[in-house]
Order: sequence, then C-alpha cells, then structure tokens
Amino acid sequence: MHLNGKTALVTGGAQGIGRAIAFALAKAGADVAVSDVNLEKAAETAGELSALGIKSFAIGGSVADSAAAQEMVEKAVAGLGKLDILVNNAGITRDNLIMRMKEDDWDLVLDINLKGSFNCAKAALKHMSKARTGRIINIASIVGAMGNAGQANYVASKAGLIGLTKTIAREYASRNVTANAVAPGFIDTAMTQALPEKVREDLMKQIPLGRLGTADDVAAAVKFLASDAAAYITGQVIHVNGGMYM
Ligand code: NAI
Repeated sequence: MHLNGKTALVTGGAQGIGRAIAFALAKAGADVAVSDVNLEKAAETAGELSALGIKSFAIGGSVADSAAAQEMVEKAVAGLGKLDILVNNAGITRDNLIMRMKEDDWDLVLDINLKGSFNCAKAALKHMSKARTGRIINIASIVGAMGNAGQANYVASKAGLIGLTKTIAREYASRNVTANAVAPGFIDTAMTQALPEKVREDLMKQIPLGRLGTADDVAAAVKFLASDAAAYITGQVIHVNGGMYM
C-alpha cells in the first residue's frame, strides 16, 4: 500500500488523529501538506514529516471560512504540484444536552465539522475532476451512526458528513474521484482525554476489543482508502471502533 508519487492535504493535521494520518501517508511515500488553525503546531508537525524525507509544509486558516479553505487547497496544490488525496479531519466538540445547547455552539460545530469539509472538498474537487483522479476521505464518527446524548451538534455534523461523502461519491465517480468516510469509535486523543475518568471507564465496557482506539488505528484505514488497493471502494463508511458499533 505505498503512496509514492502521491500528494495529500490533511486538515486539522497538527495533532491527534490528523497528525497520525499525516505520518501514515508520509511513511507510505506521499508528500503531505498539513493545515490547521494552529499554524505553529502544524509547522512543527510538517517539520517532523519533512525529516522522513518527503515534502511537507504547513498551511494556516480555518476550514469553516470558505475563502480560507479555498486558499488552503490552492496553497497545497501550488506547493505539492497537484492534489491526489484530501483528508477532511479538522473537527471540534461543544457538548451539551439539547435544552442547554447554545445556538452559537450548534453553529460553530456544524461550521467546522460539516461546512468546513464541504468547503475543502469543493475546492479540491475542482482540481481532482480536472486531473480525473482523486481521493476524498472524511473523518466522521461512530456517533454519526449511533447518536449520542449530549452531542446533538456533533452527531448532526458527523451524520451530515456521511451524507456529504455519499453525495460526493455519486457526483464524482465518473471523474474517477472516490469519496469515503472513516468513522472512529473512541480514540485516545486530546478530545477524549478531556472526558471525566468515569465516562472513559464506562465507555471502555462497551468496547468488545476492550481498549480505546489509537490514532494509528484510524490512520491505517485512511492509508488503505488512499491507496490503489481501495480503487473500487467509494461512498462507504469504514468503522474503526473495536466492535463498539456493528
Ligand atoms: P484534536 O482536537 O486532537 O485535533 C483536532 C485538530 O483540528 C487540532 O489540531 C485543531 O487545531 C484542528 N482544528 C480545529 N478547528 C479547526 C478549524 N476550524 N480549521 C482547521 N483546523 C481546525 O481531535 P482528534 O481527536 O484528533 O479528532 C480529529 C477528528 O477525528 C475530528 O474530526 C474528530 O471529530 C474525529 N473523531 C475523533 C474521535 C476521538 O475519539 N478522538 C472519535 C471520532 C471522530
């Protein structure tokens, strides 16, 4: 599953799952642009990726801003020469029960997780459809399929992202561009380390494989979808969740 000669843009790639994805793609031989609102941290990650001997650089900006997202993709294409793989990974949570959820928190989560992915995909598809090749991989979530109390905004964004993925797959199949989603379960990153210990323990009991996932578990599925081995797979959701949802 090598990616020699391929180029990728990973949004939210400064840390966590995005960072692990950037490393997995780079280790397989791809050149990788790392975009993030946290430009400083993205630059650190890009520096470490460059040390692997591939081309890497950081791009700032929020995916929620359509002009910034477009610029992000243009910078990636300019710096890498082309764009074969887009990984829409940037995402946030602002959890609360529906009755307590503020409109601003609903809007922010939908703007980053769902509109942000649309913004980047739209900009990337312009190049991919012209090149008649491309891979769009959206990082959804187990809760987008299951629902989850206290996460109405996040769940809606991830369920929406699965719908967006299937629509991109249908609209761009004739251009040889595939779109798939990876839906992680509970992965040990800053996002889940913020959960209270009791919540983490209760979650663990619901996972047949008996552990939280790692960012590398998710990155392995993304690398597969980006590779030639996945050429005939489009419009699918690959769940990486230790069996928590089947
Ligand atoms: P994280 O919080 O560790 O990393 C998210 C990255 O996205 C950060 O570097 C952050 O600066 C960046 N980011 C945030 N807002 C942005 C914006 N507007 N524009 C550009 N970059 C932005 O989170 P983690 O855990 O690595 O999550 C990555 C993705 O995986 C997210 O889409 C998340 O919803 C998804 N996911 C995570 C799970 C978990 O258990 N950690 C489970 C299921 C899905």
